[in-house]
Amino acid sequence: MAVKVGVIGGGRFGTNHLRTFAQLAHSGRVKLVALADVNPKVLEEQRRAFGVKGYENYEEMLSKEEIDAVTIVTPDHLHREIAITSANSGKHILVEKPLDVTVSGCTEMIDAAKRNGVLLQVDFHKRFDPDFIELKRAIISNKLGRIEYGYAWMEDTIEVPSKWFPKWAPNSSPAWFLGIHFYDLVRWLMESMPKRAYATGVKHKLASMGIDAFDSIQAKVEFENGSSFFFDTSWILPESFPAIVNQGLRVVGSEGTWEVDSQNRGVEACTTSEGPKTFNTHFIREGKDKFGRTVFHGYGIDSIVDFVENVEFLQSGAKIGDLTGRYASGEEGRIATSMAVAIHRSIAEGRVTDVELPKS
Ligand SMILES: NC(=O)c1ccc[n+]([C@@H]2O[C@H](COP(=O)([O-])OP(=O)(O)OC[C@H]3O[C@@H](n4cnc5c(N)ncnc54)[C@H](O)[C@@H]3O)[C@@H](O)[C@H]2O)c1
Repeated sequence: MAVKVGVIGGGRFGTNHLRTFAQLAHSGRVKLVALADVNPKVLEEQRRAFGVKGYENYEEMLSKEEIDAVTIVTPDHLHREIAITSANSGKHILVEKPLDVTVSGCTEMIDAAKRNGVLLQVDFHKRFDPDFIELKRAIISNKLGRIEYGYAWMEDTIEVPSKWFPKWAPNSSPAWFLGIHFYDLVRWLMESMPKRAYATGVKHKLASMGIDAFDSIQAKVEFENGSSFFFDTSWILPESFPAIVNQGLRVVGSEGTWEVDSQNRGVEACTTSEGPKTFNTHFIREGKDKFGRTVFHGYGIDSIVDFVENVEFLQSGAKIGDLTGRYASGEEGRIATSMAVAIHRSIAEGRVTDVELPKS
């Protein structure tokens, strides 16, 4: 039985959701039913690319179409209401990161999913990166001993906030858009809760371009296991940087260190047309299947496939509780949001602050 899917938000990353569902439809695992986007131009482009039916109003899509599950790929601050409405319509939900930009918003989403007995999953795809899966195995098997400290960095080129989404960049930040990936990853790797945060932020370059958003945010977070991590995030690297994003993670334990350069996986190129380039070959790789159809592989696809697998599991009679600990849940999305909220609060107040975690 195919999982019937609707996508809400068909912009840059929505395209990645659409292509994942389109290729799962080849084998009959998914039926891509419809796309909702407030922008008719986007609907027309995606209709041409994927043959997908479009709705300008997602509520109309939810009420008119027979859909089992939705994925929400709208701007960071516009996930909450759509997720709650989708949960109230009985749909399983995959939400792009961050789950929401407020802790109370996350709680409302979690409660709505629980009330309606639907799955609420967050697209934290770094958990599917093979290099981080290997690192988690090393941590679980105690190869690194007691984790003492670490450093994560994630930096986009300036075209991301200034050309891709200048309108909603002020509603986001390098912490919300980028840091959240690593806040979740580090907590998930160590299975330890965040305790306190201290952060500084700079508003300079984007502000001078008329975009009221942080250029960069540097945060230090302490965890309950006694470790502390620095998280450097920014989205102002020059457009001439060899990749759209520079990112990686270094972990130091009592028995060893582990470092993942998740941007440069060892492939470096320089061409007349594009200049120097590095490639995150694990993220999204384009290829062809046996029938000559374009297909994509990588952890950017795997985490969306995981959502489909979870819905299939539920449709085969399993309960949501059977999935506990096996997917990026709404509750875990809320922990990452709590970290980002504490980081922004620390910047605003200029002092160390507790990461406030709801009890449930
Ligand atoms: N996992 C990743 O690697 C990754 C990468 C990029 C973006 N994202 C996340 O995906 C989300 C979208 O980012 P993007 O880069 O695709 O942004 P985008 O601006 O390219 O696309 C957002 C789309 O949502 C549509 N939209 C806005 N309000 C809507 C509504 N009420 N109903 C329906 N559609 C609506 C817009 O018209 C637009 O087409 C963000 O939360 C972002 O953080 C994740």
